Amino acid sequence: MAETQIGLQTLPILPTSNAVLFPHVVLPLTVARPKSIAALEAAMATEEKLIGVFAVRGGQSFDQVQTKDFYQVGCKAVVRKLSRQKDRIILALQGLERIRIIETLQNEPHIAVRYEDLPLPVDEGAEIEAMARTMVEKANQIQTLSEAKATASIGETLAQFRNPLERVYLLASILSFDAAKEQSLLEAPTRHAALRLMNDYLDYEIQVLELQNQITSKTNAEITREQRDYVLRQQLKTIKTELGERESTEGDIELLREQLEKAQLPAVAQSEADRELRRLAQLTTASPEYQTLRSYLELVAELPWNVSTTDNHDLARAQKILDEEHFDLKEVKERILEQLAVMKLNQAAHAPVLLFVGPPGVGKTSLGASVAHALERRFERMSLGGLHDEAELRGHRRTYVGAMPGRIVQAIRRSGVRNPVIMLDEIDKIGQDFRGDPAAALMEILDPAQNCDFRDNYLDLPFDLSQVFFIATANSVETNPGPLLHRMAILRLSGYTEEEKIQIAQRYIVPRRLKDVGLTSEQLIIQSETLAKMIRGYTREAGVRQLERTVGAVARKAARQFAEGRTEPLQVKPGLLHELLGTQRFLEEKLRQRQVPGVATGLAWTPSGGDILYIEAATLPKGRGLTVTGQIGSIMRESADAAVSCVWSHASLLGIPPERFTEANVHIHVPAGAIPKDGPSAGITMATAVASLLSGRHVDPNTAMTGEITLAGLVLPVGGIKEKVLAANRSGVTRVILPKDNKRDLEEVPQTTRSEMDFVFAETILDVWRIAIPSLNLKAPVAAAIF
Ligand SMILES: Nc1ncnc2c1ncn2[C@@H]1O[C@H](COP(=O)(O)OP(=O)(O)O)[C@@H](O)[C@H]1O
Ligand SMILES: [Mg+2]
Repeated sequence: MAETQIGLQTLPILPTSNAVLFPHVVLPLTVARPKSIAALEAAMATEEKLIGVFAVRGGQSFDQVQTKDFYQVGCKAVVRKLSRQKDRIILALQGLERIRIIETLQNEPHIAVRYEDLPLPVDEGAEIEAMARTMVEKANQIQTLSEAKATASIGETLAQFRNPLERVYLLASILSFDAAKEQSLLEAPTRHAALRLMNDYLDYEIQVLELQNQITSKTNAEITREQRDYVLRQQLKTIKTELGERESTEGDIELLREQLEKAQLPAVAQSEADRELRRLAQLTTASPEYQTLRSYLELVAELPWNVSTTDNHDLARAQKILDEEHFDLKEVKERILEQLAVMKLNQAAHAPVLLFVGPPGVGKTSLGASVAHALERRFERMSLGGLHDEAELRGHRRTYVGAMPGRIVQAIRRSGVRNPVIMLDEIDKIGQDFRGDPAAALMEILDPAQNCDFRDNYLDLPFDLSQVFFIATANSVETNPGPLLHRMAILRLSGYTEEEKIQIAQRYIVPRRLKDVGLTSEQLIIQSETLAKMIRGYTREAGVRQLERTVGAVARKAARQFAEGRTEPLQVKPGLLHELLGTQRFLEEKLRQRQVPGVATGLAWTPSGGDILYIEAATLPKGRGLTVTGQIGSIMRESADAAVSCVWSHASLLGIPPERFTEANVHIHVPAGAIPKDGPSAGITMATAVASLLSGRHVDPNTAMTGEITLAGLVLPVGGIKEKVLAANRSGVTRVILPKDNKRDLEEVPQTTRSEMDFVFAETILDVWRIAIPSLNLKAPVAAAIF
């Protein structure tokens, strides 16, 4: 029936139940099943008498055997001897070469297949030789151990074959391993692999034989029991882990299922979770995927899909809480209360996004916590400082190794509710680089049109953020992308005056610090003059953070004295600060009382509050043009140009000989050169410095100024008046020149500060100079007489 043709190699198949036929090996067999007899008959009917011999896989029933039931690698054999008995055939087969089934051609009356040869590559070398020799040694050892008194030693038999692979095959059939082992020897892809396998199996045989000998030997009873115990214990352990593992997997999954049910997921999320749960059930706990999938499902179950707190809309109470926790900040509190009122009236409305802007330590972060407190919402703060990877906000996809949900989802999970107050602290400090643009991700998070189904990459399910009350903070809004700002209501908190700081310290900071260290206000008394000295000598800031730290240090020092036995109260007078805190960190800023011509005092706004700024001008040898130094931006540079030109056009008025402009050039330096500065507000200060330089007259050291200048000498309004005035006041400046159009901004400055200083409102540069350079004796307003 089967033919051998070129291009179509087919064979009848003889399946064997527990013997593997190897190439070069002769195998005696008895065949009784009709299907096997039919296969043999088919082989005998051909000239070559070839048949394929394939071992049936363990556990397969032999009676209805089909191609799929046996290993796909077998051996082509030639029928050597055959004797027909009544109901069976006794025969000898000689193995020829390895073959692999390509397809089954028929299953009845016998199996026939199309096949291909599967020759082994010939690999040679010292290692192969060494393994072959070891194999022979081990075989001899086995013969000794098994006390099999065969006619010829195995070693001698093997020696007849030169080819190591033939030795492997022969040895395998002599030693009769179990069928699976024999099959893997037959399937070994290289000689090297076959030899290694064989050596492993031989080692195993040797161990078994040695153990057997020990067990049967009566003199070694002790070892026998130990060994047997060991074997039993090992088996028990295996059984236990098998059982235990299954139990814990099922328990795990059941628990997760319950938790997921309790979480009341939205329908989309639920069906996704169910699917993942089914997938989890199919994994073994040992697989790494099991753990990742499990922690994912844990997150899904833990998220507050349907948990929220009820807002307290009692506005009077809210006001009380805000006042109790923060001094002053009247306008900001008003604005917050308005927002709460809106939320009270329209509870379906999206929670607003507030942005608190102000220098460090003015209470932005803690005010956010107060808002949550007033509303009775949970509060979660996340600092965005230094964040530049979008994935930190939105998470990494789960396919990413070590993936985690982003910070937003983490915050929601921590809060345990879907409507917490989430503080996005320091959003002006977020960066942007190749890992994506966190600001863009933030926009989506804050956009009420999009955030009702926010998608974290890890969670990969929509989560509703629309009930979250976001409050962002920033030191300045200059660096924030505009579109982000449009999404938020900006509330400004500016720095505090010394008087306000003392109040904050007395009412909030000192009581808090006392409580921290376990002292009472009877035990430790810090006088207000002492607080003032602390503020001036140990801090330099717009807010009260350093002050809080300094008070804390004093409180700890005091606590120690009490712990060491002090009983009488401690009055901290200003003189005691040196002993408690060491030398002053900041010398009380003394205004330069004597200034050379060419120096004028300006006022600058900085993210950490305001500061005074000495602008210096000097003449340079001819031909250098205008030089401006001090890390300044292009706007400030242009402002310097305008200032010099403005002075030039007023030269005669100032009594400056025109040659001075042709003989020499001007260098303007804005100090603190390490800090980048920009903006037009130093214009009048630069013009004053240059005017002073070229006229050789001093600028009044107690006067500071801010304002933009035009070529014609007009003074234009600028920003940051409150911070600048407070800084001037801190520094002991007694008179401030401001643009006339900034007059109304002065209302922001506390009355106490205003009453301590003189303010001059300038329309033109001549108004500035008249006050700042008194020796010029500019009498009448002559702004119109410039050209
Ligand atoms: N107006 C205020 N009243 C009471 N405490 C304040 C006030 N402003 C700031 N503080 C306190 O100063 C400390 C620093 O405030 P913080 O919120 O960290 O400032 P910011 O976030 O603006 O840098 C906090 O302990 C805060 O309670
Ligand atoms: Mg803060």
